[in-house]
Amino acid sequence: MQQKTTIVFDTQFEEEVYHGLTNYPKHLSSKYFYDAKGDKLFQDIMNMPEYYLTNSEYNILEAFKEEIARLFINGTEGFNLIELGAGDGKKTKILLKYFSENNIRVKYLPIDISQNVLDELEASIKEELPKITVETLQGTYFETLSEVNSIQDVKKVILFLGSNIGNLLHPQAIEFLSQIRALMQEEDLLFMGFDQKKNPQTILDAYNDQTGITAAFNKNILVRINAELGGDFKVSNFLHWEVYDPETGTAKSYLVSKQAQTVTIEKLGLTVTFKAWETIHTEISQKYDDDTVAWLAERSGLKIETEFSDDENQYKNYVFKKNKEE
Ligand code: AVJ
Repeated sequence: MQQKTTIVFDTQFEEEVYHGLTNYPKHLSSKYFYDAKGDKLFQDIMNMPEYYLTNSEYNILEAFKEEIARLFINGTEGFNLIELGAGDGKKTKILLKYFSENNIRVKYLPIDISQNVLDELEASIKEELPKITVETLQGTYFETLSEVNSIQDVKKVILFLGSNIGNLLHPQAIEFLSQIRALMQEEDLLFMGFDQKKNPQTILDAYNDQTGITAAFNKNILVRINAELGGDFKVSNFLHWEVYDPETGTAKSYLVSKQAQTVTIEKLGLTVTFKAWETIHTEISQKYDDDTVAWLAERSGLKIETEFSDDENQYKNYVFKKNKEE
């Protein structure tokens, strides 16, 4: 009789790579793009002219900072500003600077999975905005959010910028938003960025730049498997491919095998075969419209308080509150 062997994985990365590459069709999760090299490549993406998202959100925060500040304060003495996936905080600093200049009492609590990112962010805020109290929290969103909640005595404003929600399929997004809602009190706010449906060409250009930065970012997951799991991916044998479905608003990234090939991943004791033109799906970057955001909010027990948009409606920031009726 054949014994079913259970493979023991040391990390979630190992487990997900194993399952993704033995599945059909093959897939890998975009959350593994972000090692030190991936962080740097994403910084480069944010500086590309084609990647309009960063500038659009930057412009919204700059244009509406006064109104946003008023909304955040709204009668309270002070509040905690909690940022999920803070990164370099470039956009958040627009608000922090305004708070600082107007003596608004705020404690900034950036959450990130990377301690390195947090250390740099903390140092830069202490230097540039010494009046702002910063307390960094390393970990996943939910571990740290509930930690914040247990010591919570003042109003919370939760920031989730950059259309990071777009990496989630709608059911996962609803799950995520519902979990956030469960950690919100009545007066708390959730301030989020949602990239909008637009000319499909603009979206394809943003995710398929001529200089190849996005391609390198996508392929970094293979580089990482090579470095951390003893893989022998020949990265140049894969093509970065982007598609956008204007009906669903879903942009999808793939790595396409240019030839039949075999890859071994030592740490996983795994040999993976690729047919010519076989795909690995790596990322979704969902685009939204008002109806979709309203539907997500409704399904998650949230209500939209207000929204802010850039001149061209390329990108929007929505402000949510807990829906009391539920
Ligand atoms: C960081 C998830 C918002 O999907 O737009 C950029 C990542 N991928 N270019 C996005 C990304 C390719 C980005 N998010």
